[in-house]
Amino acid sequence: MHVPVLTEKVIEYLNVKSNRNFIDCTLGSGAHTSAIVKHNRPAGKVLAIDWDREAITRARSVLSKPDLRRITFVEDNFSHLEDITKREKFHASGVLLDLGMSSDQLELSKRGFSFQKNEPLDMRYSLENPLTAAKIVNYWSKNDITRMLKEYGQEQFANQIAEAITKERKEHAIARTQELVKVITGAVPGWYRRRKIHPATKTFQALRIEVNNELENLKAVIPQVFRVLGAGGRVVIISFHSLEDRIVKYAFKENPQAKILTKKVIIPSIVERETNPRARSAKLRAAEKL
Ligand SMILES: C[S@@+](CC[C@H](N)C(=O)[O-])C[C@H]1O[C@@H](n2cnc3c(N)ncnc32)[C@H](O)[C@@H]1O
Repeated sequence: MHVPVLTEKVIEYLNVKSNRNFIDCTLGSGAHTSAIVKHNRPAGKVLAIDWDREAITRARSVLSKPDLRRITFVEDNFSHLEDITKREKFHASGVLLDLGMSSDQLELSKRGFSFQKNEPLDMRYSLENPLTAAKIVNYWSKNDITRMLKEYGQEQFANQIAEAITKERKEHAIARTQELVKVITGAVPGWYRRRKIHPATKTFQALRIEVNNELENLKAVIPQVFRVLGAGGRVVIISFHSLEDRIVKYAFKENPQAKILTKKVIIPSIVERETNPRARSAKLRAAEKL
């Protein structure tokens, strides 16, 4: 179900060659890993990390059986990258991060990632994470919810939505996605409701980023990537919104060990953008360790 983005560019910029080893920090449905193991045959290995146990189980079941013996699966937060590579004694020529959530998580996880479904407000990648979207919505102060909506959703009606959430929860807890969607639609003006982009889009994005601490994990992993790579090693990062892209852009720029390979950010072709909705906002940046 998950269609990977920019796969050819990933293989090109990671410089995947026979017998080289790679780390996929965001295994997801395994589509990028599957492409890597096709290009690093016969003996190249992949260390495949995901925070979501179900994603690993799904990916394991769809990856080709003969390739499985060259893949090591690790359920962990990629912000622990250095420890993971030490523990696994894994040396890699390239590291991939394809950020955010997969279409499988959106469609199949039943964890409330989609404002089009009616599911419990969870939004965790890892079920070991103590914070859920329901906890934020039902227990955080109005100020904290407003800050989150502004910072991670760039939501222009952050105040109004936070106000409506705190009012609603006095009556009853907001437990499911459609309850939250109703509160959001009731809080924003008519023109905002009628736009092509759903009025709950930014709130859902902000909650997902907050629950999973996404921007902090990204900031934490980039310096580690440059420590685990040897000279000439490559890093490829695909991001899906401007907050992530800005972090990647400046982390590369400010790292004296990074030679930037994508002076201009890479975006998918028109054909890819038209056939894969996830590709519409994708941006790829790559660097080489000096
Ligand atoms: C966009 S999907 C990756 C899709 C994958 N490239 C493919 O081809 O199927 C992102 C994945 O990263 C995982 N993820 C997000 N944040 C993570 C983190 N901090 N540590 C580990 N995995 C994370 C999510 O659980 C999700 O499965």
